[in-house]
Amino acid sequence: MPELADSPKVLLLYYSYTGQAKKVLDAAAEVFRARGCEVTEAPIEFTDPRYAERFSRFPMRSVWPEFLGMLPAQTLKRTGDIRTPEAVRTGSYDLICIGSPTWWDTVSMPLRTFLMSHEARPVLDGKRFAVFVVCRRKWRKNLAGVRKLAEKKGGRYVDGIHFTYPGGELPSMLSLTSYLGTGEYRDRYLGMKLPPTNINDEHLEEARRFAGRVADKVFGRAPSERP
Ligand SMILES: Cc1cc2nc3c(=O)[nH]c(=O)nc-3n(C[C@H](O)[C@H](O)[C@H](O)COP(=O)(O)O)c2cc1C
Repeated sequence: MPELADSPKVLLLYYSYTGQAKKVLDAAAEVFRARGCEVTEAPIEFTDPRYAERFSRFPMRSVWPEFLGMLPAQTLKRTGDIRTPEAVRTGSYDLICIGSPTWWDTVSMPLRTFLMSHEARPVLDGKRFAVFVVCRRKWRKNLAGVRKLAEKKGGRYVDGIHFTYPGGELPSMLSLTSYLGTGEYRDRYLGMKLPPTNINDEHLEEARRFAGRVADKVFGRAPSERP
């Protein structure tokens, strides 16, 4: 569908280290674009001198210390340095889709930093937002945290979805850390059979269905879906 001058504006606002949050938002964006929306991407850059280096390369150089090294700051819900794209300061959006990976059972430092910054209010104030959480298993506190922070900046919560990866606590942790440390998917690690990790095609389908429901709520039903 061609975009019109007054087509609804959607902002994809996220932090994504390995690209999983970006993947689900990109799938959602296909749906918004098919409904005539103008979609703008706003990836947050993590620039904090204490932590950014480890997230500037993939795979991680030394996965356990680099991964565990975020635990104290995350537990204390610390903020750090970030850089945001121009689109965050220049545009006005009707819907903000927030992509939020879980870090140590809560909102990642880069996204928390943005949501607590002075830049967040002009983007969110009076605007509707939807939350897309990606994680291995722990989504509740992340989703609740993003919702609370965005509402504090005047945002109006529409809906949220979470995407989790299969397997129990230990196998899914080993599967993820093996991936973060090597950039490859392995069937076995330290003698244990590993479940798959990261976003898969089913998740992407789910993201598209969710985006359709969010678009119905925010922009009204698509003409083809009206009774
Ligand atoms: C530093 C760090 C801490 C993490 N902590 C958790 C956690 O506590 N619980 C969980 O379910 N997933 C955790 N994860 C897994 C991420 O949520 C998962 O890898 C997600 O796919 C990352 O999305 P991204 O690629 O968009 O950044 C952690 C990942 C990193 C890098």
